Formats: sequence, structure tokens, C-alpha cells
Amino acid sequence: MKILVTGGAGFIGSAVVRLAIARGNSVVNVDALTYAACLDSLDSVAEHPNYAFEQVDIRNRAALDAVFSKHTPDAVMHLAAESHVDRSIDGPADFIETNVNGTFNMLEATRSYWQAKGRPETFRFHHISTDEVFGSLGQTGMFNEDTPYDPRSPYSASKASSDHLIRAWFVTYGLPVVLTNCSNNYGPYQFPEKLVPVVILNALAGKPLPIYGDGGNIRDWLNVEDHADALLLVLEKGVLGRSYNIGGENECTNLELVKKLCGILDCLRQYDEGRYADLITFVDDRPGHDARYAIDSSRIRDELGWRPSITLEEGLKKTVQWYLDNENWWRPLLDRSGVGQRLGVNS
Ligand SMILES: NC(=O)c1ccc[n+]([C@@H]2O[C@H](COP(=O)([O-])OP(=O)(O)OC[C@H]3O[C@@H](n4cnc5c(N)ncnc54)[C@H](O)[C@@H]3O)[C@@H](O)[C@H]2O)c1
Repeated sequence: MKILVTGGAGFIGSAVVRLAIARGNSVVNVDALTYAACLDSLDSVAEHPNYAFEQVDIRNRAALDAVFSKHTPDAVMHLAAESHVDRSIDGPADFIETNVNGTFNMLEATRSYWQAKGRPETFRFHHISTDEVFGSLGQTGMFNEDTPYDPRSPYSASKASSDHLIRAWFVTYGLPVVLTNCSNNYGPYQFPEKLVPVVILNALAGKPLPIYGDGGNIRDWLNVEDHADALLLVLEKGVLGRSYNIGGENECTNLELVKKLCGILDCLRQYDEGRYADLITFVDDRPGHDARYAIDSSRIRDELGWRPSITLEEGLKKTVQWYLDNENWWRPLLDRSGVGQRLGVNS
């Protein structure tokens, strides 16, 4: 199958591209190469005959039409997005333009291409979204696919809007869509502004490990390679018009997560001045910080037979080891705009 992947130079998109190619698919990676992109994440496939790259902004409809005509894909996996909640607080406009208007362009470019091809039944448009669209949970309960949307940050509101567009294009135009909403991802090649790489890289530099608020916010952590596997499964076997929640079955507080990372680092690379957990520093909370996300993944498990393959402990250990072994990947990214700064304080 030839898959047009948007955002393939990002964290999750690059995992999808690597896995799709490893499984014998062809991939056209459409990415604007924003601050969050890293083509080095695709070194292992860059020269593969089944891989093509197009530097295109999804806000540019004419450029998207040209990509569809040139590459004639069998499916679309739409991951391109502005993805960092803190940045969405400081500058929501980019999130509306890319996540809402860009998704609208993707839907219209896809619809036009799919209709011109005679509406092939096997065509798929897979929209990749987040559990953050469902809002914030108390101490109990889980998000399932019928949970009402209640986004609370500019990021999650923009993703919720894009999800609504996807469903509308299915109902109104019959565009063959599938939709997934996933929990927090971690793993190799994650840009060093998200919690896991920030903690690993600050610890290695002997810098404070910032914890927002009291660190009690709960997230369900999923290994990015398990996520990529789930996404390809939904693309292939998901029921049209249906959404699937994807979670890692690994709920923990941010403070627990950071302590786990410190413990792993203590074992893998000793800290000369004590223990890495001594670097933990509590900082002002993010405005509107959602208290808890928890995913009920029973639909994808029962209907499609998917389960996460790796425990959080194993996955974090492999991730820490990957950052230790791949300084040449992450070091240059530390110079990019906003990295290492406190963003999203809404001052
Ligand atoms: N990271 C997570 O934990 C998580 C969890 C659930 C869902 N998601 C969703 O998965 C998708 C990918 O997330 P990620 O963490 O890999 O993001 P990322 O920020 O690492 O990568 C986003 C990619 O999209 C590209 N991009 C941004 N704006 C673009 C535009 N206008 N045109 C073309 N390309 C553009 C960037 O250059 C980058 O390569 C997003 O849609 C996100 O909402 C992420």
C-alpha cells in the first residue's frame, strides 16, 4: 500500500514511517519541517526505494493537490500538527491554522483526489488525534469513544475541532475515514520539549528537573512504537467512520514518572553529585493543567486484537538508553527556538 503520511518528520510520524516501510509499504512523507521536525529521525529509511519526501505545508491547498497527483496514494495518515500544549498557550494562532485549517485542507484535497479516482472503496483517511479532546478526569473513570468532548487548552480545542471535521466529512461526503485518540507517547526521537526527554537531558546536564504544580497530574503512557503499530492496524482493519481509543495501560503521576526516569538514570549513568532525583524542582503549574487522563482501550483490543507490547518500566529503560546512545540526534535540537525555556505560563 502507498501511504501519504503527514508530519512524518515528527516524533510519532517518524515511528509510523519507519514501521510502515519495514512492513513493505510505500510512504510519501509530507512535512513542512517546523521547529519540531527532524529528518535525521528518518535516516534509516531516507534512501529506501519505497520512501519519498515532500516538503509541503498542509496549509497550502494547491501544494497538497500537486502531491496527490504526483504520488497517487492508497491511503492517508494525517499526523501533522502543532503538538505542544505550552506553546499553544503562548501562541494559539498556529494551532488553529495548522490543526484546524490544515486538516480542512487535507480533507478537501483528499476528497477531490478520491472522487476523481472514482471513490475507491479501499481508500482510507486516518486522522490521528489525542485523548486530550475529552478533557480532564477526576480520580476515577476512563475515556471511552463515547465520552463527550470537553477540550480545555488551545491545543486540545484545535484537535477536537479537527476530529469534528473528520466525522462531518464521513457523514456528509462519505469520505472513508477512521479516527484514533491516543494517550501520551514516549520513546526514541521525541523532541526535547516534552516531559520525558526534558527530564533525561536536564538530568544528564545536572540541571533542575521541572515538575509542574505538585506533580500529581496523571497520564497514561504509551510507547511510540506500540502506538505506530496500533495506527497501522486501524488503517488496515478499522471500521469506517469509527474511532478507536489507544492507551498504554500505564497510568502514573508526573512525579512518579520523573522518579522512575531518575532511578533508571542512576543505574545507567551515575550522577557525580548524588542522585538524579535530588534535581527535582517544583515550578508554577501550567494554566488549566488537566488533572487526569485515562484511556479505556477495550474497543481496539476487543475488535482488532491490539494490546501494548511493552511495560512502562521496560519502555522507559530502553528510551533512556536510546538518549544516552544518540546524543548526535538530540544535541543540535537544544538550540532550536524555545527549547529549554519555560513556555505557557500565560503571563
Ligand atoms: N505526542 C503525543 O503524546 C501525542 C499523543 C496523542 C496524539 N498525538 C497526535 O499525534 C500527532 C503527531 O504528534 P507528534 O508528537 O509526533 O508531533 P510533533 O510535534 O513531534 O511532530 C509534528 C510534525 O508535523 C509537522 N507539521 C507541523 N505543522 C505542519 C504544517 N502546517 N504542514 C506540514 N507539516 C507540519 C512538523 O514539522 C512535525 O514534523 C499530532 O497530530 C498529535 O496531535 C500526539
